Amino acid sequence: MIITIDGVAASGKSTVASGVARALGVPYISSGLLYRAVTLCGLEEALAGGDLRVLERLEAQPPRLEPRAEGNQVWRGERDITPDLHATRIDAGVSAYAALPEVRAWVDDQLRGLPRPFVAEGRDMGTNVFPQAGAKFYLTASPRVRAERRSSERPDELDAIEAALIERDARDAAQSAPAADALVIDTGELSAQEVIDLIVREVEGKRLKT
Ligand code: DC
Repeated sequence: MIITIDGVAASGKSTVASGVARALGVPYISSGLLYRAVTLCGLEEALAGGDLRVLERLEAQPPRLEPRAEGNQVWRGERDITPDLHATRIDAGVSAYAALPEVRAWVDDQLRGLPRPFVAEGRDMGTNVFPQAGAKFYLTASPRVRAERRSSERPDELDAIEAALIERDARDAAQSAPAADALVIDTGELSAQEVIDLIVREVEGKRLKT
């Protein structure tokens, strides 16, 4: 069974997807990392943000997503580019690439080619990429709560982090919406473990019915 966990930025998707994957004994795949890999390539090739020529540049050495339950790695050839994918310049540039239909089609192809089953985490896993998924979830939380989680080590930056999240929500809105058959979970009052337990219970309930 494919399980999809979509949601807004900093809603805890990766932690939850990893926990659910571990509980179920399958890998999880982080689709956002592939959008980040495209963005890194664009930056390293000195292209302007959202320049479609990035796909030609990727062709010579396409990034490979290596899914595991503990965390994902992205390789380009012999180089593990994972540590470079969470830089501030990637956060700032990724939406311009993620908005391009050609880039989305490229990412979708990579994801659909991965061996199943898995837990897929992103923005449109349950809507566009795996509409046939057996169980779908969508995580939300208020911008303030998400900013507080992100800023635990930098409390003086709380307002700036909240403003950046609200801006990113607006830029990602076209790609990010719950599937009609997704269970929407507000994670504001829940710990990551509580969200994981809830999802695993739901998945096991669905499995019993099929
Ligand atoms: O989940 P993340 O923050 O690593 O995602 C990085 C960016 O990629 C995010 O700003 C939106 C985009 N993204 C997307 O458009 N569709 C997805 N399925 C996953 C991520």
